[in-house]
Amino acid sequence: MLPQTPFYYYDTALLQATLDAIQHEIAQHPNYHVHYALKANANPKLLHIIQQAGLGADCVSGGEVQTAIEAGFPADKIVYAGVGKSDQEILNALHHEIFCFNVESIPELQVINELAGRERRVAHVCLRINPDVEAHTHTHIITGMAENKFGIALKDMLKVVQLANELPNLQFEGLHFHIGSQITNMHDFVALCQRINEIQFSLNKQGIYPSVINVGGGLGIDYQSPEEHPIANFKAYFRVFEQHLHLRPEQSLHFELGRSVVAQCGSLITQVLYVKQTSTKQFAIVDAGMTELIRPALYQAKHKIQNLTARSEQQEKYDVVGPICESSDVFDKDLLLPTTQRGDILAIRSAGAYGETMASTYNCRKLPSTYTEHDFSINIQ
Ligand code: LLP
Repeated sequence: MLPQTPFYYYDTALLQATLDAIQHEIAQHPNYHVHYALKANANPKLLHIIQQAGLGADCVSGGEVQTAIEAGFPADKIVYAGVGKSDQEILNALHHEIFCFNVESIPELQVINELAGRERRVAHVCLRINPDVEAHTHTHIITGMAENKFGIALKDMLKVVQLANELPNLQFEGLHFHIGSQITNMHDFVALCQRINEIQFSLNKQGIYPSVINVGGGLGIDYQSPEEHPIANFKAYFRVFEQHLHLRPEQSLHFELGRSVVAQCGSLITQVLYVKQTSTKQFAIVDAGMTELIRPALYQAKHKIQNLTARSEQQEKYDVVGPICESSDVFDKDLLLPTTQRGDILAIRSAGAYGETMASTYNCRKLPSTYTEHDFSINIQ
């Protein structure tokens, strides 16, 4: 008997294998540092495994900084970005002596300097530069184009670096970039490397030598065939930076991977409440909705859906929809599934990233429970 659906089910053995793959790829590079982006999934069971593997943390709010500290991530491996850091969030991060603030504007730089001075501390800062490099992904998750709200424009960069060097309570560490998410075309990362090379060249000419380069996150995963590609292509990803990014020997290179670490280890498990036939459609109405997994509604994302309990050899077409009072509460349309009945259990795959963290209580629903293979086993393959 399964517990009450819907719930998230995490395969922690796959998470561990993913972390091992990352460690394997960076083992030859002592100057490479991977910070896990908590926004992808901040479930304590997963965070524990990720911090045990030695990754740092990438945070975008005071709450994430606090969660990372409580999960055991060392403060000196925490980076903190975000266009709207509040004074309280900055003070909290200063007290914890985090590795670095990724600063997104001049006013933010000035406020961090002022608060650090008041607290008699030195804030370590990287400047988040908007590299104006296009990532070929969904428009809602592109961040590195001139029109996006993130980062400091290239034309202002020199002025802001100089300001960061002048302000007395700041230590300028280097540069931060992030071009977008779910990027599967490695050429986008090559373009980022080339832009960083140009930027470093121009800064070096001015006598400015950043010690930290942070290239953000963004590596995509295979949503269509999670069983064929349970682990993202970390080899190809890290190779891009080895081959295309020019670093001085003393520079450290930082990554902020979220989705590629946790997406494939999570499934949303849901039960079919009703199969409803209309004149044009057949709906499988399930007990999970956009409240548990908003990605299909928000980004037209497609997650593979499997019927784990159907016995039929025959296949039929279904629109798989949730119970929420929104027309966009649809997981997939015209999906071929084995003949599906009330009570069948479906797995919505690749839901470990930006699933649980984006869940809401809309329609007065409860936040989903979470389990791992240590609680009970479900055969998803
Ligand atoms: N660093 C920064 C500064 C970021 O903004 C992000 C993601 C990451 C790292 C991690 O990126 P990743 O490796 O996970 O691609 N909710 C959307 C994705 C939003 C990504 C936001 N920033 C989705 O479900 O597709």
